[in-house]
Amino acid sequence: MKKIPIIIDCDPGVDDSYAIALANSHPEFEIIALTAVEGNVPAVLTRHNCLCLDETFDIGAKVAYGATVPLVRPYFREESATHGEGGVGGIQFPAPAKQPEEKAAWDVIYEEAVKHNGELVLFAVGPLTNIATALRKYPDLPEYLKKFVIMGGGTFGNVTATGAKAEFNIWVDPTAAKEVFEKLEVYMVGLNATHAAAVEEKDFDAMLELTAKGNNKESAFLNKLTAFSKENSFGRGEDNNVIHDALAVAAEIDPEIVKFEKYYVWVEDREIENVGETVIDFKGENGKEPNCWVAMDVNQPKFVQLMKDMCKYYAEK
Ligand code: RIB
Ligand code: CA
Repeated sequence: MKKIPIIIDCDPGVDDSYAIALANSHPEFEIIALTAVEGNVPAVLTRHNCLCLDETFDIGAKVAYGATVPLVRPYFREESATHGEGGVGGIQFPAPAKQPEEKAAWDVIYEEAVKHNGELVLFAVGPLTNIATALRKYPDLPEYLKKFVIMGGGTFGNVTATGAKAEFNIWVDPTAAKEVFEKLEVYMVGLNATHAAAVEEKDFDAMLELTAKGNNKESAFLNKLTAFSKENSFGRGEDNNVIHDALAVAAEIDPEIVKFEKYYVWVEDREIENVGETVIDFKGENGKEPNCWVAMDVNQPKFVQLMKDMCKYYAEK
């Protein structure tokens, strides 16, 4: 079977880690590269975590380093309560033996897109700095991508500084997001979708049980990650128990899980109250051609089952 080549641009991150594990468990995907961007934690950590996740799951992908800061606005976050010490649930990885690519993330994304000649599916589940940089350097990148899927944006936000109009990935680098939405057709798996797919405590318990049956490093990692997610979720705000990024991957694995509708979407990048908002023109009032497939309906039970199947897959490896 001819596999679908994919690249995951990410800021691991707890939910990024689930997304990578899920993609790696899918028989039809070949993860060509993991590209690191600043976001949940500083780039030095997202880079390290990409190397470690590749080793934990024996992916054998290229790991390429991208941006450390957004294109324009200042942003720096030390640590993240949501993602724990080190950015992946406080989990300490063995020192990675793997070395990153010498080339930057945007160069690897473009070269692999050209090499796979229109077959590559690009996922971005962190701020869009690397993607915007790739598009600035290689304006013909869209010609070589089969599909571009993000976790980001949505019909509401989770960044309270913007009156909860902006979602984190878009808000960190609104300039990048604005340019990306203007240049690429985006499949946007936003917060309205990820919250609708939120796993429940009983789901985490099932995942814990399944991963505990495994006798390998993949299951041990997923068991720790799930334990962190459960503990970090049900005593804190609702947003923490949402495995956002994995839904973007799940949407591509099983089209029954997420239903998309096409609208014109633009990103507010002015430093005003709703900076980082993905403004969705549901009524077509802008008179502009729809440019974005917006995730609207979600089959939560199917998503949860896919996450459990992933845990079972690794436990039986
Ligand atoms: O708003 C949720 C998104 O921001 C997720 O991708 C999470 O990992 C963070 O990057
Ligand atoms: Ca992320």
